[in-house]
Amino acid sequence: MPTNREPVRVVGLSGSLRPDSLTRRAVEIALRGATELGAEAELFDLRECRVACDGNSDDGAYPESVYRLRNAVKNANGLVLGTPEYHGSFSGVLKNALDLLGFEEVQSKMIGLIGVSGGPMGAIHALASLRTIGRHLHAWVVPHQAAIPFAGQAFDEEGNLKDAKLQERVMEVGRQVVKFGFLHHSAAAKKFLDAWVSATPNPGGEHEGLIW
Ligand SMILES: Cc1cc2nc3c(=O)[nH]c(=O)nc-3n(C[C@H](O)[C@H](O)[C@H](O)COP(=O)(O)O)c2cc1C
Repeated sequence: MPTNREPVRVVGLSGSLRPDSLTRRAVEIALRGATELGAEAELFDLRECRVACDGNSDDGAYPESVYRLRNAVKNANGLVLGTPEYHGSFSGVLKNALDLLGFEEVQSKMIGLIGVSGGPMGAIHALASLRTIGRHLHAWVVPHQAAIPFAGQAFDEEGNLKDAKLQERVMEVGRQVVKFGFLHHSAAAKKFLDAWVSATPNPGGEHEGLIW
């Protein structure tokens, strides 16, 4: 899609570290949707980054993998976040990754959401919680999202969803991140959007009298 400038860059994060993770497969499908539109897409493997956020963001004491994660997200225009439903919410792995990130990396970025559940609910609670986190990071969570119920039976051997409509829906999450990321790419739109998000006091910043 982008022609006269750099391609839109999308980073995928999967909130399951399981070797055969179905969440990771779902994120890979969404990233294929993104690359279809000409984006550069990368799945950042959180297995490389098994370190707990200790609340210190800038002391340089984290392993190098944390700074690689931060750089990958900082250099991206959008993110695809995939999570398994764990006890009615999203996984601690994904929360930790988001806690290792902050406004510097995520503010103004597009975010697409995908949830995977073993049961029939399709991770809807996880998706709702992630949408709230997107707001707190001053990101733009795209309207489209995808929930995959009964995940254990949902994928074929090639890693695609057996339900063609659901496969299309997951790919569309990736495409929307690219489409809105592309709009944000344009200098005029970016200026407007940056002004819009920075109009809200940054609760992690130096302002006083802040509103969460
Ligand atoms: C700790 C834990 C909690 C879970 N809680 C739920 C749940 O609340 N609802 C549900 O439908 N499935 C639940 N599951 C099942 C997972 O959503 C399902 O196995 C999913 O495929 C895991 O993602 P993965 O394949 O990417 O590892 C839970 C699994 C684990 C390990």
